[in-house]
Amino acid sequence: MRSVITGTGIGVPPHVVTNEALSRIMDTSDEWIRVRSGIQERHYAAPGQGSTDLGALAARQAIADAGLLPGDVDAVIFATMTPDHVLPGNGPLLQVALGLGDIPTFDIRQQCSGFLYGLELADLFIQSGRYRRVLLVGAEVHTPFMPWHLGWDTVIGLEVREITEAERMENTASRDRTVLFGDGAGAVVIEGRDGAAGLGPIRLHTDGGGAGVLTMPGASFKRRPFVSHAQIEAGETLPVMSGKEVFRSAVTLMPQVVREVCALSGVPVEALDLVLVHQANLRIIEGVQKALGLPPEKVPHNVERWGNTTAATLPILFHECRQNGLVQPGMTLVFTALGSGLHWGAALYRT
Ligand code: UT7
Repeated sequence: MRSVITGTGIGVPPHVVTNEALSRIMDTSDEWIRVRSGIQERHYAAPGQGSTDLGALAARQAIADAGLLPGDVDAVIFATMTPDHVLPGNGPLLQVALGLGDIPTFDIRQQCSGFLYGLELADLFIQSGRYRRVLLVGAEVHTPFMPWHLGWDTVIGLEVREITEAERMENTASRDRTVLFGDGAGAVVIEGRDGAAGLGPIRLHTDGGGAGVLTMPGASFKRRPFVSHAQIEAGETLPVMSGKEVFRSAVTLMPQVVREVCALSGVPVEALDLVLVHQANLRIIEGVQKALGLPPEKVPHNVERWGNTTAATLPILFHECRQNGLVQPGMTLVFTALGSGLHWGAALYRT
C-alpha cells in the first residue's frame, strides 16, 4: 500500500501586494526584488486573519477535492512557524473550524521543510495502519512580523498617508527579509491505496549546526520576559537571516537530497517529470534546476506571485500544477525543500 495524495486545496489571502507598493514605504525597488528573488507580488492576510483561517480554507477545498467529508479525516498534521498562538497549536483550532470531531491533531514546525516532514509523518501513520486518511496543512501568516506601526497599513490600502522619513528608514532596516515573504496556505489529503502511485522514498536531514543562519532571537523563553518593547525595537522579533549562507546551502543540499531519493528509488534524475522546489527565491529554484541538469520546464515555480510562504509553498505549488494540468497521471516527481533548522529533504511521488 502507498500513501496517495487524493485531494489538494489552497487558502488565498485577500491583499495582493506588489513590489511597487513596498517601495512606497522603504528603500527598495521592483527591479531589486525581481532581479534578486524573482518575486513580483505576494498576498497579505486581512487584519485578524490567522494561519488557522487560511489553513481551514485550504483544508475544506482539499477534503472536498478528495471526495470526502470532514468527518472522514482520521488525523491532522499542521505545519506552521506562524501559529495563531504559542499555545495551543493550530491543530485543535482547525479541528473545531472544520468540525472534525475529536480526532488527534499534530502541530509541527520545521519551517520551510514543514510540508516534507509532514509527508513523512503522514506516510508513517498510513503505512503503520494507525490512520487511514490524514489531512496535512502548511499555512503561514508572516505579515505580523512586519512593523505595522511604521505605515504598513498603506500597502494594503487600509490607510492613506505619506509615511515619514524616519518610518521609511526603519522599514529599510529589515528590507532584505520583509520583501521576500507572503501569506498563504496549502493542504493535502493523504490516503492509503494499493498500486504504483504514491509516496516514497522520502529522505529528511537536519543540521542544527546551521540553526543560527535563519533564526528569530526574540520572543524567546530564554528571555525574561519572553517578549519586550526592547526586543521589538532591536528588531529581534523578526527572523534574522544570513541570506547568502541560506542561499548556498539551498543550492547545494536540495540537489544532493533529490539525487538521494532518486538513487533509493532507482529512478534516474533525468527521468523525473517534475521537481517541485521550495519557493523562496527564483535564483535558488533555477540553481537547483541547473545543478540537477534538468530543463526549466521540469522545475515549475510560482514564487513570483506568492513570495516565500514557508510551509505552504509546496502544497500551493502542487495544487496549482494539478489545476493547470502540469501534473498528469503516471508522472514521477520529487518535492524538495530547505529552511531554518537547518532542515531539508526530498520526497519522491508517483501520480
Ligand atoms: O526559505 C528559506 C529562507 N530564505 C532564503 O531562502 C533566502 C536565501 N537568500 C536569498 O534569497 C538572498 O541572499 C537575498 C534575496 C536575501 C539577498 O540577495 P543577495 O544577492 O544575497 O543580496 P545581499 O544581501 O548581498 O544585498 C546586496 C545589496 C546590499 O546593499 P550593499 O551593502 O551592497 O550596498 C543590501 O543592503 O542589496 C541591498 N538590499 C536591498 N536593496 C533594495 C537588501 N535588501 C534589499 C531590498 N531592496 N529589499
